Amino acid sequence: MAETKGVATRREFIKRAMATSLAAGSLSVLGAPAIGGEKRKFKVGLVGSGGRGTGALRDHLAAAEKLGVDIEVVGVADAFEDRTGGARGIGKIPPGRVFVGFDGYKKLLDTDIDIVLTAAPPNFRPVHLAAAIEAGKHVFMEKPVAVDPPGARKIMEAGEVAKKKGLCVVAGTQRRHQRNYRETARAVQEGAVGKIRGGSVYWCGGALWKRDRDASWSDAEYLVRNWVSFTEMSGDHIVEQHVHNLDIMNWYLGTHPIRALGFGMRARRKTGNQFDFHSVDFEFPEGVHIHSMCRQINGTDGGVYEHLVGEKDIAQNKKPSDPQVFPEGCPFDGNPYVQEHIDLLWGILKEDPINEAYNVATSTMTAIMGRIATYTGKRVEWKDLVEPGGAYYDLTLKPTALDFEKGEVVAPPDDVFPIPGRD
Ligand SMILES: NC(=O)c1ccc[n+]([C@@H]2O[C@H](COP(=O)([O-])OP(=O)(O)OC[C@H]3O[C@@H](n4cnc5c(N)ncnc54)[C@H](O)[C@@H]3O)[C@@H](O)[C@H]2O)c1
Repeated sequence: MAETKGVATRREFIKRAMATSLAAGSLSVLGAPAIGGEKRKFKVGLVGSGGRGTGALRDHLAAAEKLGVDIEVVGVADAFEDRTGGARGIGKIPPGRVFVGFDGYKKLLDTDIDIVLTAAPPNFRPVHLAAAIEAGKHVFMEKPVAVDPPGARKIMEAGEVAKKKGLCVVAGTQRRHQRNYRETARAVQEGAVGKIRGGSVYWCGGALWKRDRDASWSDAEYLVRNWVSFTEMSGDHIVEQHVHNLDIMNWYLGTHPIRALGFGMRARRKTGNQFDFHSVDFEFPEGVHIHSMCRQINGTDGGVYEHLVGEKDIAQNKKPSDPQVFPEGCPFDGNPYVQEHIDLLWGILKEDPINEAYNVATSTMTAIMGRIATYTGKRVEWKDLVEPGGAYYDLTLKPTALDFEKGEVVAPPDDVFPIPGRD
């Protein structure tokens, strides 16, 4: 297959993926974790003190305890004062270190924190990551990492800057920190199932939460408090939720899809503008097709799965020839939400940075490509999103993160949504 500009070949993709795992793997040559004597005390701050942000903070502290590292929680930034209680309850954050508003992250990054955990809604992530790297902080960032192609590319760029600065960037695609997924990925790379020739990945379940609009709320407040309903905030659930399965697809295939064709629609929801279901055929090089489906409709049958079929076997719960899939000496925790913070802190302690920006940005871009395919009904090419001049290269969902900072937010109307073939 001819190489297309802007498309990572399988070889390049594996090289980049290996660079991440080798960075971690090379720790083994350092021997057992002689953590004593190294810097063992870090200051951490949280951007986005909601359900996952506070969860990530707890997981971070659990990871630190496992590593024998001292963490001081010194600050929190959230759009709203009433959401900061979670972090304050966990961290005994001093007065004056609670930063409220859409530019609160800047004030937090101005402090002496070493590490920032970022878990605001996905549309803010590119700006928050770029600022954190600019400020020289190590980062844990929740998935997905963007809602549009420029956002996903900004994450890739920030990831490259992080590499130059020696900063760690870990993403909330926690399956990459889960033993059985790591073992299977390694076994697949070793040829245990042969080349992957097809399969399906899916996340089908019920609707998530929604918030009805309070008459006192501005457009900005409504969008943020009801963010899982609006594509401009979440990317739609193919991006927000299904990215986990698409990430496994890309990881195991060792590349990303080159085009997508799909369909989807709203059936039940009235709030926001997302679809209720998406069904996408992702085409990879060498004629490999993977079916992706995701649905959020109450009362329907569910399932969350990656079923990738190789020439010899199905890629599921395979054992690699070497069972050591975490860096030697690095503590293991059966909870991948904790393990991702162990891996972050380990990279910092060993001064051997882990950097997952490219992988999570690529999986987010894959999901965005799928969404564009279902919204438009058109066949969408990867190069349309990543090459200058491509049809969707400049597709920017508004309001942007900067619109929120400038106070220039107009909420899209509820229940007005794309009609494939027309929009
Ligand atoms: N890895 C996983 O399994 C997993 C699970 C759940 C959620 N998530 C991800 O975590 C992120 C957060 O989800 P959640 O469930 O915690 O949502 P949430 O609504 O509970 O929390 C989001 C928080 O961010 C705050 N916020 C909004 N805009 C902000 C801004 N510009 N600056 C600072 N704070 C801002 C909100 O006020 C809120 O407190 C999402 O990206 C979601 O996809 C990941």
